[in-house]
Amino acid sequence: MILIKNIKALLQVRPALNATPLAGLEQSFLPILENAFLLIEKDRIADFGEMSRCPLRADVEIDAFGRMLLPAWCDSHTHIVYAAAREEEFVQRIQGVSYEMIAAKGGGILNSARRLQNKSESELLTGAIQRVEEARALGTGAMEIKSGYGLTLESELKMLRVIRRLKSLTDVTIKATFLGAHAVPLEYKQRRNEYISLIINKMLPIIAAENLADYIDVFCEKMAFSVAETENILEAGAKYGLKPKIHTNQFNSMGGIEAAVKYGAISVDHLEVLNEKEMILLRNHKTIATLLPTAPFFLNDVHTPPARQLMNKSIPVALATDCNPGTSPSISMPFVWSLACIRLRMTPEEGLNALTWNGACAMEVQNDLGCIAKGKIANLILTKPVPSMAYLPYAFGTNWIEKTILKGNIH
Ligand code: NIG
Ligand code: FE
Repeated sequence: MILIKNIKALLQVRPALNATPLAGLEQSFLPILENAFLLIEKDRIADFGEMSRCPLRADVEIDAFGRMLLPAWCDSHTHIVYAAAREEEFVQRIQGVSYEMIAAKGGGILNSARRLQNKSESELLTGAIQRVEEARALGTGAMEIKSGYGLTLESELKMLRVIRRLKSLTDVTIKATFLGAHAVPLEYKQRRNEYISLIINKMLPIIAAENLADYIDVFCEKMAFSVAETENILEAGAKYGLKPKIHTNQFNSMGGIEAAVKYGAISVDHLEVLNEKEMILLRNHKTIATLLPTAPFFLNDVHTPPARQLMNKSIPVALATDCNPGTSPSISMPFVWSLACIRLRMTPEEGLNALTWNGACAMEVQNDLGCIAKGKIANLILTKPVPSMAYLPYAFGTNWIEKTILKGNIH
């Protein structure tokens, strides 16, 4: 038993029965309990409440005077299995070359794929574990990880096997997404259909038979896959019971949203460019809009996702890091929170709901994670002494995390 007492504020306390994403006014409200205790038994939250009814003792006691306790982050969109960073492309962009131009010349995702194809499963695992540990130290308790830097049968399977091994090596809860349709390899440029057929007829059956993926993703974009191609791939995924979480509307609005809702996507991710009609579609299908503000920040893209308009239309907004070597080399959810407040004009409360509960819903782990409730897994962040909740996203770049507790283990 671990007892945390004298907690200045317990953030995100919600009834365990609630299982739907927060939208509209609900997203703007953050339930808080002040001057509280919380009790952990094994890997679960056993009890919490006001200090007046705090239990007298426990095996381990933590005095949280002046500190806040909140649920660990649920980072529902990452690409953390990769071979190497791409800082040379960062320098090219400073000199004026665009992300799309770099990709068109065989850089970008194809650059990462070439490097990953030459690495062994265990080399990739070593790098990925380090990134998961870094995420955990920054308060992440659950993350979705995508393939998509393999782009051959062998290397896509290699990535998904790394993700499967990660699942058993860490306290961080992990979901795997198959993103074979991340880019068309150069050798398939003149015969795109053959690459799509490789995804559908060779990769998917093995991935499904070995149960290597929880979701399917497609990069639906002018520089990647068309709407018709996206639909074919999602259709094939559906036959194996893989629900979509898709990359769309990063640079162009071209029908990706329509395709995503048609195949029952849990979330549509990026949305830097999004029109009114598309927002209405999302609202009508109760699809989560996952915004990744560090990607346009890092690419210095003037387009930012219309978070306020989405929330005004009662569309649930989740926030994630998109951690990847090309467009978002940061695994920091606290930084995403600050950027969401600064650039997307989300309030601290809306942001926290997006980073925890709605992130949990975007990877379907909300029965166990995403809020503080009795019986949920004890995935928690204990802050250093802080003046208020709003101080947390305000103090960007400051490490205000004192400890993370995952599955009842203190780190
Ligand atoms: O989410 N947009 C597509 N995929 C990644 C970037 C991948 C890369 O450049 O390596 C993203 O931004
Ligand atoms: Fe991404």
